[in-house]
Amino acid sequence: MKLLVIGSAGRLGAALMREYQGKYDVAGFNHAQLDLSNFDEIREKLDETDFDVLINVAAFTNVDLCETQPHQAFRINAEAPRALAEICGEKNAKLIHFSTDYVFDGEKRAPYTEEDEANPISVYGESKLAGEKNVLAAQNRHLIVRVSWVFGPDRPSFIDGMIKRAQENETVDAIADKFSTPTYTRDIAKMLPQFFDGDVEGGILHFANAGKCSWQEYAQWALDCCENAGVSLKAKTVGACKLRDMVNWVARRPIYSVLSTAKYAQLTGTPPRTWREAVADYIRRFYFKK
Ligand SMILES: NC(=O)c1ccc[n+]([C@@H]2O[C@H](COP(=O)([O-])OP(=O)(O)OC[C@H]3O[C@@H](n4cnc5c(N)ncnc54)[C@H](OP(=O)(O)O)[C@@H]3O)[C@@H](O)[C@H]2O)c1
Repeated sequence: MKLLVIGSAGRLGAALMREYQGKYDVAGFNHAQLDLSNFDEIREKLDETDFDVLINVAAFTNVDLCETQPHQAFRINAEAPRALAEICGEKNAKLIHFSTDYVFDGEKRAPYTEEDEANPISVYGESKLAGEKNVLAAQNRHLIVRVSWVFGPDRPSFIDGMIKRAQENETVDAIADKFSTPTYTRDIAKMLPQFFDGDVEGGILHFANAGKCSWQEYAQWALDCCENAGVSLKAKTVGACKLRDMVNWVARRPIYSVLSTAKYAQLTGTPPRTWREAVADYIRRFYFKK
C-alpha cells in the first residue's frame, strides 16, 4: 500500500512519517515541497505521484492569524482539501483529512459526537469545517478525522511550553476554565492504519485520548510526570488563570470541546488510552533526565 503524507514536517505529519517508514511505502511532502495555496502545484505534484491513501495533515493552524488572514485560511484549510479530494477521486485513492475540535462552539457540557452540529466561533474553525464539507462532498469514501489538543515530540505544543516555563520560573499558571482532551501524535499514528483500507466506510471520526481536562490539569500532570522522570523544575504547582485573562488572543476558542470517541471504540473494539497515560508515556520517552 502506497501512502502519501501532505504536511510531513508538521507535528502530526512527522510522527506519521516516523511510524509508517519501513511498514508502508510512504512518501511525504512538506510545506516547501508542496504549497497548498497553489492549486496548480497541487494538481501537478499529485498527478505525478502514485498513492493509494493520501493523508492530509497540512493546515493553516495558527488560530489567531486565521482571524486576520481569512482568505488564506479558507484557501489552505477549505479549498485545498476540496482539490485533494477531487484528485483522490480521480485516482481511486482514499483521502484521510484531519480536522479539529474547534469546529464546535463549546456550549455543550458532554463529549461532542460525530452527529453533533458543528458551529465554529473562529475563522480557523469555520475554514476547517468548510474543508470537511468540501472533502465529503467530493467522495463519501473519504475520511475526516477530528482531533484535539495534539502534542508530540516533533514540534513544541502547550505541554512543552509549560514544562519550559516551569524549568525557568518559580511560578506558572494555566487556564482552568477551558476543557478538552490532549491527544498524542504517536497514538494517532498507531490507530490510523485501521482506516487505510478503501472499503472501510468514510465520513467523520473523532479521535482523542480518553478523558477530559482543563489546561491547568493537563499542565499539572505534565509537571508531575517530569518530577517522576527526574526532570528538574523550579515550579511544581500550576496555578489557575481564566480564559478571559488571555487578552492577547485574537480568536475566540471553545470553552468545552471534548470529543466523544465512542464511535472509534465501537468501530475498532479498542478505546484509546487515557490522556494521563499518553502524557506520561511522552514525558518518559522525551524528557527523561533531559
Ligand atoms: N495542534 C493541535 O492542537 C490540533 C488540534 C486539533 C486539530 N489539529 C489538526 O491536526 C492537523 C495537524 O496539525 P499539527 O498539530 O501537526 O499542526 P502543525 O504542526 O502546525 O502542522 C501543520 C503543517 O502544515 C504546513 N502548512 C501550513 N501551511 C501550508 C501550506 N500552505 N501548504 C503546505 N503545507 C502547509 C505547516 O508547515 P510550516 O510550519 O512550514 O508552515 C506544518 O508543517 C491539522 O489539520 C490541524 O488542523 C491540530
